[in-house]
Amino acid sequence: MNTKIALVTGANKGIGKEIARQLGAAGFTVLAGSRDLARGAAAAKELVAEGYEVEAVQLDVTDEASVRAAAGRIEAEYGRLDVLVNNAAIIPPGDDAVSRIEGDVLREAFEVNVFGLVGVTQAMLPLLRKAEQARVVNMSTSLASFELVGDPESPFSTMLMLGYNASKAAVNMVTVMLANELRGSGILVNAADPGNCATDMGGWDAPRTPEQGAAVAVRLATLDAGGPTGEVQAEEGRLPW
Ligand SMILES: NC(=O)c1ccc[n+]([C@@H]2O[C@H](COP(=O)([O-])OP(=O)(O)OC[C@H]3O[C@@H](n4cnc5c(N)ncnc54)[C@H](OP(=O)(O)O)[C@@H]3O)[C@@H](O)[C@H]2O)c1
Repeated sequence: MNTKIALVTGANKGIGKEIARQLGAAGFTVLAGSRDLARGAAAAKELVAEGYEVEAVQLDVTDEASVRAAAGRIEAEYGRLDVLVNNAAIIPPGDDAVSRIEGDVLREAFEVNVFGLVGVTQAMLPLLRKAEQARVVNMSTSLASFELVGDPESPFSTMLMLGYNASKAAVNMVTVMLANELRGSGILVNAADPGNCATDMGGWDAPRTPEQGAAVAVRLATLDAGGPTGEVQAEEGRLPW
């Protein structure tokens, strides 16, 4: 089987759905992960109608059984995975400044954005190792950049969401450490900052389209051999840590 296989988590809407569409257009068979299978199936149906190879897969990144089942299905149907895009994430309701955030809210952010992402990655890694030149893309954000958030002149310094920002900073470290671990294996691991895009999360008045945001991730998902690994990149290139 020559068609490359990609799994995108949280692909039922927003940037994830656009990543699925653009990977479909690039010739991938795309597995559109969705915690609600009906929502995933609706998105997949729309993309199939546009002419792309897309299948919905039930995948709640916080549910170990769901993650295991998705990995089992990919193993049984395809025997490998060429691209993993860890896109699913939340800004938990009640996310707030360090002085005010409630512990449960902070935990919820890490549950989905970090523990979920690592769990999915661990489950998919044996399949990624079976691909010729697999790529892993973790969705990050400028709000995870110490340099940008640490600049008092930057608008990013005024966005008081410890749960989201700190969990995404952890995602950056996961990205660097996995890239180091897999260096020389042919698997490239990078993080993508889509920029502020108009979605449920980004706000519908955001300056960028989901298509623009998705393109950053797709570029990293389709890197040639010898491409960068262990970086966080935005549209214009490498982002400062
Ligand atoms: N939009 C922006 O401005 C922006 C900026 C920087 C970075 N990002 C990053 O880009 C990625 C996509 O963001 P977006 O704006 O497209 O967000 P979105 O519209 O809120 O979509 C998030 C997706 O994640 C899914 N999800 C949430 N919890 C999940 C779980 N436990 N298991 C599986 N899926 C889950 C959602 O599923 P449901 O529909 O079931 O809730 C949805 O499909 C995120 O990683 C985000 O942090 C976005």
